[in-house]
Amino acid sequence: MAYSALLSALRCTPVWRSSMHSVANEHSFWDALFLARNLPVYFIHADCALIHIKKVINYCSIINPRNRAYSFLGVDLAIELYNDGKHICVMFNDLVKDAGDHAVQANQFLVVSDGEGALIDPSGHLTYNALVLAMHKYLPKKELKYLFASHQDPDIIGSLDKWLFSIECTLYVSQLWSRFVPHFCNLNRADGRIVGIPDEGTPVYLRDTVIHAVPAHFLHAEGNFQFYDSKSKILFSGDMGASLVDADDIQKPITTKAEFLAHLPTMSGFHKRYMVSNKVCRFWANMVRTMNVEMLVPQYGRYFVGPEAIGAFLDWISELQCGIDLFTQENYLYRG
Ligand SMILES: [Fe+2]
Repeated sequence: MAYSALLSALRCTPVWRSSMHSVANEHSFWDALFLARNLPVYFIHADCALIHIKKVINYCSIINPRNRAYSFLGVDLAIELYNDGKHICVMFNDLVKDAGDHAVQANQFLVVSDGEGALIDPSGHLTYNALVLAMHKYLPKKELKYLFASHQDPDIIGSLDKWLFSIECTLYVSQLWSRFVPHFCNLNRADGRIVGIPDEGTPVYLRDTVIHAVPAHFLHAEGNFQFYDSKSKILFSGDMGASLVDADDIQKPITTKAEFLAHLPTMSGFHKRYMVSNKVCRFWANMVRTMNVEMLVPQYGRYFVGPEAIGAFLDWISELQCGIDLFTQENYLYRG
């Protein structure tokens, strides 16, 4: 549905809410109303009096209105990677949109196993409200048990304070960063809520599945993990396999070697700079070849499905000279 059509739909649909009190802290709801500021918006109070609430529009943040509108109308914001009715893995690829498109596209992931969920790399403040709205179709926020962070960057887990404030969940992150990420939070918010993953990784049990934190150190962060869902056989590969493309280009996975080669220009610059060295790329690729990975889904850009495309990527990354392999004294000259 076109954006203009969405706006038209919003402008001729009254918005109702049964209670003001239950949503007093739900900024996501106010965000959804942002585009409806020209609508007659009403609350039905307990005494059934209609209250015109244009004032509450002031609660809205003004970022990302398009996705607020999509979510509000129930338009899909997710790519379903796996869904057998009981176990669901979804990817949100289009929730990062600041007013000037200054922020890099990023994917966020939700794994739901028999009604219990985990978010992988839920991103920062820019995405929080839209993610809460978008994930609601699959899981009420309160059923979220875990957050998984591949590493410590703000586009990975910058929204930590909001998640820890709004639900009872636990964050898994490398033990190298478990005492750094509380800096994203208000005082004492993270106390007892963060599990530091040891360097060798750890299994985490989520109802009918096991999510394995697997080592991906120096790819790109010093303490770095990827998350493998044993039920769907999806490896959520963080920065490995990432590409810099528009959100609209992500719907279709890469399934063949030819598609991978055509896609390479969107990937190679990123991997050459952000991956630390060929040595660690090779170690990682060797590990992945021992796993049963049916889908490799990075945090940015398009994803890979099937042995041909995944094999082509592993072969390429195993040979890639990158990071410190390419640096010389020329990169460390004082130019004052
Ligand atoms: Fe990062």
